[in-house]
Formats: sequence, C-alpha cells, structure tokens
Amino acid sequence: MDVFREGLFEGRTALITGGGTGIGRGIAEALAAYGARCALMSRRAEHVEPAAADIAGKSGRACLPLVADVRQPEQVEAAVAKVVGTLGRLDIVINAAAGNFLCPASDLTYNGFGAVIDIDTKGTWNVSKAAYDAWLREHGGQFLNISATLHYGGTPAQLHVSAAKAAVDALTRNLAVEWGPQGIRVNAIAPGPIADTEGARRLFPGPIAERLQQVTPTRRLGRVEDIVNLSLFLLSDAASNIHGAIVVSDGGLCLTGSFGALFEALKS
Ligand code: HXC
Repeated sequence: MDVFREGLFEGRTALITGGGTGIGRGIAEALAAYGARCALMSRRAEHVEPAAADIAGKSGRACLPLVADVRQPEQVEAAVAKVVGTLGRLDIVINAAAGNFLCPASDLTYNGFGAVIDIDTKGTWNVSKAAYDAWLREHGGQFLNISATLHYGGTPAQLHVSAAKAAVDALTRNLAVEWGPQGIRVNAIAPGPIADTEGARRLFPGPIAERLQQVTPTRRLGRVEDIVNLSLFLLSDAASNIHGAIVVSDGGLCLTGSFGALFEALKS
C-alpha cells in the first residue's frame, strides 16, 4: 500500500506472537517492509523458522524466530529477553497468538474452555507483562492485541473464544488507562472472518464462508491485508491519540447480528 511512507518503522523493533502464520505473519511482513526489525514467536518451530527467514530475505531486516508457548511465563520471559538481548530494544508488541475450534457449550470440557482462555487471554497478559517488565516500562512503546467480534452478541459454538476475547478487550482498556501515562499506547483490532487463515479453515469451511460473504454489508470476507493496513495505521504516529480503542474491521458484519444466526443454522 503506498499510503504508508517508506521507512515508517525504521529503528523500531517488534515482537509478534503467532507471527509465523495468518494475521500475525502479515503484520510482521509489513512492519519489516517498512523498516522494523521483528521477532516472531510461536510454539511451533516449523511455523516461525521459515517465516522469519523469508521475511528477513525479502526485507533485508533482522527477523528472529522464537519458539515459546505464550501459556508458559518462563518461556515468554526468556523469549522477550532474547529479543532485547539480540535486537537491542522492544518498541512494539503484537499479541496475535490464538486458539480456537467450533464446539457447543454442552460438549465443551473444562480443559477445552481453559486451553483457549490460557492461549488468548493469559497469553496476552503473559507477553504484555514480560515485555513491560523487560523494556516498555522504562522506554515506552506500543501494544496491539488481536481480538474478535464474537462476544458482541452470543455466538453458538464459540463460548470459549467469546469469553477469552472479551477478556482481551478488558486487558486492552485497563492497560491503556494504567500504562498510558508511561508513554505506552495500547489498542486492539477486532477482525471479522478473515479468508485464508487458520481460523477460517477451522470455523468457516466452504459453504459457510460463502454465506458469510452474502450477509456481510460489504459483500466480501476480510483479508489479511485489511488487518495489516489497520495495524500499520494504529502503530504509526498518525494514530498517536488513539488509545484503549478496539477497532472493528469486519465489513459491518457484527452490525447485522448474522454471525450468531449463521452458526445457529449450522446445527440444523
Ligand atoms: C472440542 C476440543 C477440540 C474440538 C481441542 N479440544 N479441540 N474440544 N472440539 N475441536 C479440547 C481438547 O479435547 C482438550 O480438552 C483441550 O481442548 C485442549 O486440547 P489440546 O489439543 O490438548 O490442546 P493444545 O494442543 O494445547 O491445542 C490448543 C487448541 C488447538 C486451541 C485446542 O486447537 C490449537 O493449538 N490451535 C492453534 C491454532 C488456532 O486454533 N488458530 C485459530 C485461531 S482462530 P480435554 O478435556 O479433552 O483434555 C481465532 C479467530 C477468532 O482465534 C475469530 C474468528 C472470527
């Protein structure tokens, strides 16, 4: 996109959880293309290692692969320490790691609910706290959390994620209030259905994706680049007065209430 200027993020360092795939990877690629040095964190080496090599090759910027589970505070602290130690600073943290599956509440186990809360909610807190303690408390910076719109209504088979993302929104607002005075900007993006992501493969197989497109006011599914462009804007100085916001990018889908109705229809 040529609305952003070359070198926009020159001199900045970003940590992106879930940075090996989907939205996280898209944001990492764009930040690197606009001059940032990046670190990609994932549980899976096979996700982050090739992604980091590819991004470094294309952008000519350092891109560090980090294998760590956002659910494990010790692993997160070690990964954050490696970013600061290797890349010298940490200005931007993108909390994009997430877990999801379709499961009605009646079939959801204690552990199934907990797994998603642990990845999405506790993972966002673990990474935010570790990054704050290691760098942002002293130097300022930015957090950008990837949320969702599922909890704006009630979405069948998505209790676990709705609860987890509602808590991510609460983290976003509370940290904005508490850490804002320390030069830390905290925002979130709430994407609707995004085509060609792991989430889409799990949640919107073929016919559902088609139906979602038909009920979305813009008559299209979201694309990774929609979330990437919004991220670039929110992370840029053009958005310096946007703080504690949860910005929806879903083509107006959540306004229609169709998300829940669609999932309900799946059962019949
Ligand atoms: C019911 C399930 C299940 C399923 C797992 N569980 N899959 N329950 N239906 N399809 C239950 C298991 O039975 C187990 O509970 C518990 O969840 C933990 O499962 P594990 O496989 O041991 O967990 P783990 O290996 O840690 O995997 C975490 C995961 C998995 C979340 C369950 O799906 C994962 O790794 N996902 C990562 C990638 C991902 O999901 N990306 C998409 C994000 S989409 P029991 O009781 O049996 O022990 C997204 C978009 C939201 O966030 C917005 C969309 C618009």
